[in-house]
Amino acid sequence: MALQIIEYPHPTLRHKSKPLKRIDAELVKMIDEMFELMHEHDGIGLAANQVDLPYRLFVLNLSGRDRDPEQRMVFINPVITKRKGTHEGEEGCLSIPGVWEKVRRAEEVTVTAYNLQGQEVTYEAKGLFAKAVQHELDHLDGVLFIDRLTETGKLSVKESLREFEEKFIRMYENGELPDELAMMKRIADLEKLRT
Ligand code: CO
Repeated sequence: MALQIIEYPHPTLRHKSKPLKRIDAELVKMIDEMFELMHEHDGIGLAANQVDLPYRLFVLNLSGRDRDPEQRMVFINPVITKRKGTHEGEEGCLSIPGVWEKVRRAEEVTVTAYNLQGQEVTYEAKGLFAKAVQHELDHLDGVLFIDRLTETGKLSVKESLREFEEKFIRMYENGELPDELAMMKRIADLEKLRT
């Protein structure tokens, strides 16, 4: 089945993902689909949770709308080893489309991960790169940018979030989403396969 971006408050967005133990052809294909989906939605980053996959993996392409294939980056089992400074900047998320708010994060981070070739890579990220790495890595721990807002920020997104919650319940009631037990079983099966 083709991957799709899931929206808040889908439970997989709250799933803390386990590290990947193997990369197989099917996973490589799914990562390719993640880039396609991200570009379709004009995003710069997409985490595995956002396509309903329970893996510690995210993709970035900081060229955004330019969709420069040279700038595709895959982060497998990423870890932030160093944080420096603070910076407050506007963020949005493909799983909460249309909602934008200011988030305070580290200004610079050092991140180590594996790439698709299984090589360990380390980046010292600044600016947009640092912001994207922190936002996407949060996803892997089940954390969303709306969790990191100031009290004022939380208040200003409250109504939009309520609309997402109501839409989700409607979809669930209309049978457009699998039941909770089926969702949990699917996640457990995917974890068993690769983590
Ligand atoms: Co996001």
